[in-house]
Amino acid sequence: MTLTITPTEATLGAIVTGVNLANLDDATWADIERAFHAHAVLIFPGQHLSETAQIEFGRHFGAIEHLVADREIVPISNQRPDGTLMNDDESGMQLLRGNEGWHTDSSYMPLAAKASVLSARVVPSAGGQTEWADMRAAYDALDEVTKARIATLSAYHSLYYSQGRIGHKAERGSSYGFHTHETPLRPLVKVHPVTGRKSLFIGRHAYGIPGLTPEESERLLESLVTFACQAPRTYAHAWQPGDVVVWDNRCVLHRARPFDHREARVMKHTRVAGEPASEWAGQSVSLNESAMA
Ligand code: OGA
Ligand code: MN
Repeated sequence: MTLTITPTEATLGAIVTGVNLANLDDATWADIERAFHAHAVLIFPGQHLSETAQIEFGRHFGAIEHLVADREIVPISNQRPDGTLMNDDESGMQLLRGNEGWHTDSSYMPLAAKASVLSARVVPSAGGQTEWADMRAAYDALDEVTKARIATLSAYHSLYYSQGRIGHKAERGSSYGFHTHETPLRPLVKVHPVTGRKSLFIGRHAYGIPGLTPEESERLLESLVTFACQAPRTYAHAWQPGDVVVWDNRCVLHRARPFDHREARVMKHTRVAGEPASEWAGQSVSLNESAMA
């Protein structure tokens, strides 16, 4: 097998073949890690990893984040464990709808995520792609006035805020991210701890830029996402069962594309925790619902 890394035509993403992720030697891992830093999204078609092998692949990137107590891999799915499909109004479905907005994983946690590994198990007959957007290239493409304006700005990140905006009022403690911890405040411009590249750290969880009114803040954040998430900075993957993708949450946004919820879509997700030196929120504040309205 020869490891082959083929960049997409977008500014991020590469297709990686000629490797078995369940059996990585040190030299191959070094090549994959280098490609991860260069391309930020790596797509590995046809891996068919067991759950254990997916977790072990994730562990190459760092410590695994537990989204459910003691679980290192969780379903991202509209199918219940008994095989029946969820209704549109239930909480799990609302979280899936939330995933259709541009976001980065765990930015609402005190320690934001480093990477996410996602695999496809069951795919719908149409739709249901995942799309990524390159926040390094987006930052580079900003005009100098905007770069100067955002250089010192920060935003709060909250899953209460982002889910609230789509009408999902979850109870505290009801699922991952709905904690009572303080809401992290994160700079809009992030420096990648490995590559040193600047990127926009934005997405649906971000709100309430200190120093701006809520309306000004929302307008600025929305305009940044709209500008950032455009060609040539976006890439969508149409899944086949067995495909595995890993992305760098520190410099890309991602979203799920819609599909007919009368069909099953079963994905498995493993999240790699951020390194505290770079992903711990420097400042935070107590949850303030009024600031989120
Ligand atoms: C995720 C996510 C998108 C998708 O796994 O974090 O946002 O396409 N998934 O399922
Ligand atoms: Mn996600």
